[in-house]
Amino acid sequence: MDVPVNTARSYREDFGQAALGDDPGVLAMIRDPRLNLAVWRGAAAAANNSYLMDLDISKLSPDVRWTSDYRREILNYTWPVHQLRDESRLLALDYALEDAGFPEGSGGRMDMARTIIDLVGHFAAVCKPNGGSVGTSLMAFQPSENNFWHTDKGDLLGLVTLRGAAGTWWRPDCTMRENGRDIEATPVRANDPLAQATAPGDLLLLKCRDTDQALIHGSPPVPGQRLVMVMWPF
Ligand SMILES: [Fe+2]
Repeated sequence: MDVPVNTARSYREDFGQAALGDDPGVLAMIRDPRLNLAVWRGAAAAANNSYLMDLDISKLSPDVRWTSDYRREILNYTWPVHQLRDESRLLALDYALEDAGFPEGSGGRMDMARTIIDLVGHFAAVCKPNGGSVGTSLMAFQPSENNFWHTDKGDLLGLVTLRGAAGTWWRPDCTMRENGRDIEATPVRANDPLAQATAPGDLLLLKCRDTDQALIHGSPPVPGQRLVMVMWPF
């Protein structure tokens, strides 16, 4: 963990609020009160693999409710942290994914279930070290010009783009406490010179509105649908 965390520290000096590294150990740095974002680069190696790229996202969950004009929830799930590694959990998630319309894909769906459980485990190790529960939601996003810079409700949020042409962007120049209201009125633009990019497969652990260090973030307007998993502790 030494090298990635050193890398993260040098990055923090540049941008003042983020730690980024190639090792899951970087996630624990979110506890540093000077930071409002920790990113484990490449956490989900399965992101944009052939199974996910072949997926027709429009066919998932025929009974889903659209929560906005460009976002719909595919699958909500609650995880008791202490039972994460039970084989029955893996099988239950695989079944839930099947029910949501994910094809078996020669084992691709089971690989995706393993990826999800692995990500939840790393998230829980930082956010729920003494047990409890983690909520997750898989969401599909349509390309939209109406995606604004924003903060999210709650305390901490985990976020990973599993499929998409781009990951989540963030703004190193501001927090909600400082000048967030102005920024939140601004749509995300592909040519934003202040935006810092994360990639599909990166796990972002970010502070939200229940802290006074909420991270302002958004998604660039790229063609093609995105599949994103969010996680929250409760
Ligand atoms: Fe968000």
